[in-house]
Amino acid sequence: MTSTYTLARYIEDLREIAREETDEDAILSRVEPLAQRLATERNWFDARYYDTHPGQGFGVHLLHEEPDHSLAVLAVSWLPGRGTPPHDHGTWAVVAGVEGDELNVRYRRVDDRARDGYARLEVKDEFIAGPGDVVCMKNGGIHLVRNETDSISVSLHTYGKHVNHTNRSQYDLETHQKKDFIVAVQ
Ligand SMILES: [Fe+2]
Repeated sequence: MTSTYTLARYIEDLREIAREETDEDAILSRVEPLAQRLATERNWFDARYYDTHPGQGFGVHLLHEEPDHSLAVLAVSWLPGRGTPPHDHGTWAVVAGVEGDELNVRYRRVDDRARDGYARLEVKDEFIAGPGDVVCMKNGGIHLVRNETDSISVSLHTYGKHVNHTNRSQYDLETHQKKDFIVAVQ
């Protein structure tokens, strides 16, 4: 029987990885199995993490961030039929499924980046991420998340920096507008 993996241990491990690695691929490959383990063991989970923000369509619960906003860990719960617009993170991201299935659509940017506030996206791939599945994205990766099931889903999100402090963007697929993306935290 292996010992329980706790949020406190996860944060210690994240700090060690941040000290030892600067390459994003190296960071992601080390964080991925740890996020998967924490998402699966669930001893950190609290029923209040099911709380969502009806206007936003999902609830964001901060579990940890460093004083400089780095190494942010969040539990995010998703209302049925709701999700995010396509967005980037402004940092690396590791999303581990905790409960329910979440549609992930990944995009590539296909415009020449010459116009401020304008972007054209094309779908790269899409897949369903369930409990224990982990989605890793480097800085610049664009995706959307949507809960297409009938019940609330929950996932564990870890970012190199809290996404409300990275000047990250959301993308409108119809107007091709690119604008700031700030989320409400519960
Ligand atoms: Fe995201």
